[in-house]
Amino acid sequence: MSGVASSGASSGAVLETASAPGSASARPLLEITDLHAYYGKSHVLHGIDLHIDAGEIVSLLGRNGVGRSTTVKSIMGQVVTTGSILFKGEEIGNEKAFRIAHRGIGYVPENRDIFPRLTVEQNLVLGEKGSGARRNARWSLADMYRMFPRLKEREHVAAGVLSGGEQQMLTLCRTLMGDPDFIMIDEPTEGLAPKIVELVADYLKELKDRGISVLLVEQKLAIALEISQRVYVMGHGQIVFEGTPAELKADPAIRKEWLEV
Ligand SMILES: Nc1ncnc2c1ncn2[C@@H]1O[C@H](COP(=O)(O)OP(=O)(O)OP(=O)(O)O)[C@@H](O)[C@H]1O
Ligand SMILES: [Mg+2]
Repeated sequence: MSGVASSGASSGAVLETASAPGSASARPLLEITDLHAYYGKSHVLHGIDLHIDAGEIVSLLGRNGVGRSTTVKSIMGQVVTTGSILFKGEEIGNEKAFRIAHRGIGYVPENRDIFPRLTVEQNLVLGEKGSGARRNARWSLADMYRMFPRLKEREHVAAGVLSGGEQQMLTLCRTLMGDPDFIMIDEPTEGLAPKIVELVADYLKELKDRGISVLLVEQKLAIALEISQRVYVMGHGQIVFEGTPAELKADPAIRKEWLEV
């Protein structure tokens, strides 16, 4: 199902993709093999295999504490790991986080990570990685304000006084300003009002339309199933299911054992 590349006329907005995302080849964009992760002596991931292709949106599901955030942090070099993490064919396991970011991986962590004293606009501009790294400059400030008009209204306000939902929008946008080829987003809709959840869903769809690959950690099954091409379900530090949303929908046993509360 590779409908992503279809060049349907989009609705008027400036939506030109500068070039094809990544170098779409046969090998996955991200390929994880036998990943183990540790917090000190605590062994949290027990041999994860996972891959993401260029332009693909993949969700990582599972109950609290199963290791979803640890998986994402492992990719971002924030946890000690063994095993292999290949990004664009190169090993990045245990590399420094800033190097990983410069390779084109964006990360939106669970906690809304903003500079509270800087304005919304300053936070966004800080997300840019400098002219060298902004290879395609796929995203502009105007794109951010179009997706989240509320941020435009609050452009000159200190980020620290924004609501939780506004801070989440800001974090999502700041990461995009770094022009990632691949973005990992950890529970973006947690604790947000339904209206804002809808905006976040639109944001995810826009990433999909522009061919950005996404690894989404999400509790809300409906969004994950709607937006993803594939899903992984985790249980106790391992992958217990991999398949399409349709396959997961058709498998009540997996949902009952590993997802429903
Ligand atoms: N900094 C840490 N030090 C020690 N143990 C940790 C640390 N962070 C997480 N853990 C443990 O690792 C396991 C996996 O945690 P992780 O944060 O990956 O879970 P999760 O699937 O993201 O769930 P949730 O977001 O609901 O907490 C849990 O048992 C958790 O207690
Ligand atoms: Mg988590």
